[in-house]
Amino acid sequence: MTDPADWSRAADPARRIGHAVEFHAEILSTNDRARDALTEPGGEGLAVVADLQTAGRGRRGRTWISPAGVNLLFSVAWRPAIAPRVAGLLGGSAALAVRDACAALVPDAGLAVRWPNDLVDAEGRKVAGLLVETALEGGELTEAVVGIGINVNWLPAEMPREIGGSATSLRVLLGSPIDRVALLGSVLSALDAEMGALERGESPLPRVRAVSWLDGRQVEVDTGAATIAGRVAGIADDGSLLLDAEVGRLALSVGEVVRVHEAVPAAVAQ
Ligand code: BTN
Repeated sequence: MTDPADWSRAADPARRIGHAVEFHAEILSTNDRARDALTEPGGEGLAVVADLQTAGRGRRGRTWISPAGVNLLFSVAWRPAIAPRVAGLLGGSAALAVRDACAALVPDAGLAVRWPNDLVDAEGRKVAGLLVETALEGGELTEAVVGIGINVNWLPAEMPREIGGSATSLRVLLGSPIDRVALLGSVLSALDAEMGALERGESPLPRVRAVSWLDGRQVEVDTGAATIAGRVAGIADDGSLLLDAEVGRLALSVGEVVRVHEAVPAAVAQ
């Protein structure tokens, strides 16, 4: 377990995102606390971290499961100076920040981004998940809450059976325990840089495409309205998934890849 006071090592007052860290031994969801903090002085960019979430949530209404004190669970909320049409890129920018910070620890693990914004290892096992929640008012993007759950020191024997086969952790990939506070510091620093770039009009997509795990793979995507099979052709400029389906090329702005067929794309075959 990390000493609660240690978490402040991850803060840097010079940063907008992650200028301060607020630690909770237990909380419902760090996303909710980060959003509430936006109305408080100094709350914008505050990193809210917890050892345990009792109502941690994932995308599409899923529960985010993580044992106490093992992984990295945190959220940051701020008022992004970007147009609503660019909001679809927030997840890509954040996923890239998480990938880069984690890849510095395990450079040989083939860490990649799986659309929309999961972090996976070379075999497609999930290392981290991101939940981006935004609010619009009068046609303006008024807030963004980015919640990040990284499997840091979780051992396979401790993972629930339903996720054990499809998830891994940085500790497994590295072969030794990882300092969660140092990792939080480097993710916050990468996140601050990525969000600054997005606000300056720089798209993260060329770099997301370079580390996209799904390209060329045969998948099934649940859009909420239907499950569509096809081959992933890439990522569109607005962050949508390009899928070559039976009906032709589709750009899917929302959805979840629910199945990936085994064949390895020619471009990445050994
Ligand atoms: C997903 O893969 O479905 C997204 C998972 C996001 C989980 C993180 S953990 C910290 C933050 N608080 C939450 O309640 N969810 C996010």
